[in-house]
Amino acid sequence: MSTSAQDTKQDQHVAKVIGVTVAAAVGGFLFGFDSSVVNGAVDSIGSHFELSEFFKGFAVAVALLGCALGAWFAGRLADKWGRKPVMLVGSFLFLISSIGTGFAWSVPDLIVWRILGGLGIGIASVIAPAYIAEIAPAKFRGALGSMQQLAITIGIFIALLSDSLLQDSAGGASNDLWFGIEAWRWMFFVGVIPAIVYGVLALMIPESPRYLVGNNLDEEAARILREVTGEKDPLNRVKEIRLTLKRESNVSLKDIRGPSFGLHPLVWVGIWIAVLQQFVGINAIFYYSTTLWQSVGFSESESFKTSVITGVINVVMTFGAILFVDRIGRRRLLKIGSVGMFIGLVLAAIAFTQQQGSGDSVTLPDTYGTLALIGANLFVVAFAATWGPVMWVMLGEMFPNRIRGVALGVCTAMNWIANFAISLLFPQLSQSLGLAYVYGFFALCAAISYFYVQFKVPETNGMELEDMGDLRSGKTIPTEVS
Ligand code: BGC
Repeated sequence: MSTSAQDTKQDQHVAKVIGVTVAAAVGGFLFGFDSSVVNGAVDSIGSHFELSEFFKGFAVAVALLGCALGAWFAGRLADKWGRKPVMLVGSFLFLISSIGTGFAWSVPDLIVWRILGGLGIGIASVIAPAYIAEIAPAKFRGALGSMQQLAITIGIFIALLSDSLLQDSAGGASNDLWFGIEAWRWMFFVGVIPAIVYGVLALMIPESPRYLVGNNLDEEAARILREVTGEKDPLNRVKEIRLTLKRESNVSLKDIRGPSFGLHPLVWVGIWIAVLQQFVGINAIFYYSTTLWQSVGFSESESFKTSVITGVINVVMTFGAILFVDRIGRRRLLKIGSVGMFIGLVLAAIAFTQQQGSGDSVTLPDTYGTLALIGANLFVVAFAATWGPVMWVMLGEMFPNRIRGVALGVCTAMNWIANFAISLLFPQLSQSLGLAYVYGFFALCAAISYFYVQFKVPETNGMELEDMGDLRSGKTIPTEVS
């Protein structure tokens, strides 16, 4: 074959991999969309069902418990049923939860629908990075894995935008929109569209070769490796995969047990990066930014605009990670992110020390309002370009094949539990302790995240998934990529 014909062939493979990845990352879009769509609806839900502040918060956060459960089981189900069927289950859960939440008639059924939606988000949060890592060639894996985060950020942004458009059209979220149904209910109905798109795409994409080899469907696996990833010697690759999967039968939680406080040391690394990703307080911004800015004296419309701008920054900065993750490596990017987040959070904490008033009538003197704004957005810039995507990329790729499904599920579930804790406690703690202390805590976590990466996180850049087993023996821990 001539060089140019080879190049064209290679380009086609790259295009196919990207197509497949986009399909898998639509799960990320739903994750972003469904977790933040409740923002625009929460006040109306509160007044419609006459909920106390605590239960209003609970109605928001309870979905995150569903996410934790979904993430916990998705890995194991994906190993049993295959990646595609699990994606279809996710799509079905998104669908019924969007319709059910929209039609919710009482608090108990609202909570059930929110939990079911959460299960779908949890499934999508595990299955997309696993699938992407399994189908993408090593040299593009980081960039392709970051597509999931890009999809999450776009999902968050579109949810905010759609909420505000519906609210605008009805002249208020609690007002009737079409067919005498209130606008806040339509906010949830909109989720039906991406849920269906996800289901259709899940039907169209190929099954993961690693799953197929694990189920003795070697020929099918070789075909997909040849056609999708452009593998030159697919049969040999199948053999390699088989070698690494050899002992993979009935993997369960006991397989991630190990000498380090009862767990495999790499699983601890995954758990800590997952928890730290939430403990820096990102969702105090994405679930509560409008309330936050109003609480320090911004007008409602200023607060709303600020939130939308932050949503855009979040999307745009994710491209930074896509460009750099495979070039400068995961560890270096995470450390740069920790420093940036720390600076942003400290600036915001300093600004919040100037809070005047209490309860609902808190304000900030002008200069400090600007400082808080700069600090919070700097934090989002740093998070979006580093910890946001890189944590998902690393969870998808850092575990040896044999335990990937289970370990990824456990770590992602911890990410959701940490998210639940912060989302539930943030409103109460910022009232009782004050925002300065809460942001001080987030800054402390950003500082801890730097040292954690420095001393504990291995570099996984450019390694084939089959070689991740070596991380276990400590052979490649920790190296800097030059
Ligand atoms: C986090 C989410 C967060 C989002 C913001 C993701 O990586 O896991 O909790 O809402 O980033 O873009």
